Amino acid sequence: MKKILDLITEEMEKAFGKAGYDGKYGRVTVSNRPDLCEYQCNGAMAAAKEYHKAPIMIASDVVEALADTEVLAEAQAVSPGFINLKISSSFLSGYLNDMHKEERLGYEKVKEPETIMIDYGGPNVAKPLHVGHLRSAIIGESVKRIARFAGHKVIGDVHLGDWGLQMGLIIMELKERKPDLPYFDPDFQDAYPKEAPFTIAELEEIYPAASARSKEDTAYKDAAMKATFELQQGHRGYQALLKHILNVSVSDLKRNYANLNVDFDLWKGESDAQPYIPDMVRKMKDEGYAYESDGALVVDIKEETDTKEVPPCMILKSDGASLYTTTDLATLVERMKLYHPRRIVYVVDKRQEMHFVQVFRCAKKCGLVEADTDLKFLGFGTMNGKDGKAFKTREGGVMRLEYLLSDINEEMLKKIRESRPMSDEEAGEIAKVVGLSAVKYGDLSNQASKDYIFDIERFTSSEGNTGPYILYTIVRIKSILKKYEEQAGAVLEAPILAEENESGRALMRELARFNAVMENAYEELAPHKICAYIYDLANAFNKFYHETSILGTEDEHVKKSRIQLLVLTRRVLETCIGLLGFEAPERM
Ligand code: ARG
Repeated sequence: MKKILDLITEEMEKAFGKAGYDGKYGRVTVSNRPDLCEYQCNGAMAAAKEYHKAPIMIASDVVEALADTEVLAEAQAVSPGFINLKISSSFLSGYLNDMHKEERLGYEKVKEPETIMIDYGGPNVAKPLHVGHLRSAIIGESVKRIARFAGHKVIGDVHLGDWGLQMGLIIMELKERKPDLPYFDPDFQDAYPKEAPFTIAELEEIYPAASARSKEDTAYKDAAMKATFELQQGHRGYQALLKHILNVSVSDLKRNYANLNVDFDLWKGESDAQPYIPDMVRKMKDEGYAYESDGALVVDIKEETDTKEVPPCMILKSDGASLYTTTDLATLVERMKLYHPRRIVYVVDKRQEMHFVQVFRCAKKCGLVEADTDLKFLGFGTMNGKDGKAFKTREGGVMRLEYLLSDINEEMLKKIRESRPMSDEEAGEIAKVVGLSAVKYGDLSNQASKDYIFDIERFTSSEGNTGPYILYTIVRIKSILKKYEEQAGAVLEAPILAEENESGRALMRELARFNAVMENAYEELAPHKICAYIYDLANAFNKFYHETSILGTEDEHVKKSRIQLLVLTRRVLETCIGLLGFEAPERM
């Protein structure tokens, strides 16, 4: 369906034409003075230059030409030349009826779907998920859903950190603790055991221990570096250990992400890119892009227009080991070969921006991707505690994601218990669903690139711009519909009729914005636009609800129409929260 603003604009273009002016001046926007009008057109001001006429005269001519419009209820020329507009109630309700008939609520799929990859999550194996990974998961999941809803073919990839020194450290530490394992026996020829020689709990303890020790013990660190190198060279026992580490970590990660309502199409990692490295490096050297500098292999990527220094992109260290850049470049080679994406969006901490500038430039320069492959860095800010510093545990350590979520759930449970009596089981389930909305909405309602303060009190409140407030609104609608069903037997299809009171019209205008908001949220990869929209919509609905008797409406047609208006509002809100990655309970 066309966007409502475009339909009003078309009407204005016609009127400009009819009055003898160029239709291009008919552009309409939502009013920035809602106390005066709903929409406005400022075209007469611009047209004044071309026609050497006072803007107010042009505006008056245009208003006259609108005499028999069915789209607008009022049009007024005001000095110095604005045209203030009010939409016709029946046109508005007609639009909503069309929208209500459509499964996608009038949001059309893109004509030419593209393959888009979203690189998000980015956990490191053998390390517990911490709050830093939370934002990537939440934002990436939402962006994935928004792009998919737009009609694109979207592939979400978790891109595990499963390569580099951390692996060598785990291997070394295991060797110290369990030297008799066959993985360390160079003469071992048989097949390695299927069972991993550790649990996730052990693994999570092994890594920090090894990491701490390597900072003090250089011999230990050297051994870990050697193990890393041997692993990278294909050491059979270490490769087998890597598989175990991956399996154990991934099943734990899957459980954690499932609790967040986040899921990935691909569970690939840095290690999957390894087979592509040798050919890639050869090509970069052969084609003269990569050269040696202080023993390392680098590619120059600075550009004349740079305002700050962009250092050369390092491809291999002097000892021949690969780096974070190497795996990201080789992953691009792999992605182009296997999926041929038109676009890749990286949802990563904004402090990694320089790394991605280097990777993107290097990939383009060396022809690893096509000239028009769109590589996009969606950098996000830090989640801070109330003190304005990076979020920490009470003891000052890095906060594990699981603990953070259980803190939220506890707070939510307390609030839910206060609201009405219910069984422990029900309270627990509702707390989980609503708690997730609190975390996700709290995050997504901020522009991704900004830092924000994680405030449990505020996020879990059912008042204000929060997830629970949105859910309360949906639950309120559900409960009115249930009551209606009890009274009337069923919610039957009926046309939505024009509402003449201001709160009804305002709700309808908000609903009519849906497809425009979806389009914009995709174009800007901006879930916060959806949050802002549903907050406005929920406010408009609650105002309407407080001012209008819905179940008490006398006229049966009007009552049925209002019930449909509620159904439509629920559909829009539920579609939107689905795109943000959470859902509403039946009751709260
Ligand atoms: N594992 C990385 C980290 O924890 C994030 C990975 C982001 N994605 C990428 N393609 N580099 O910092």
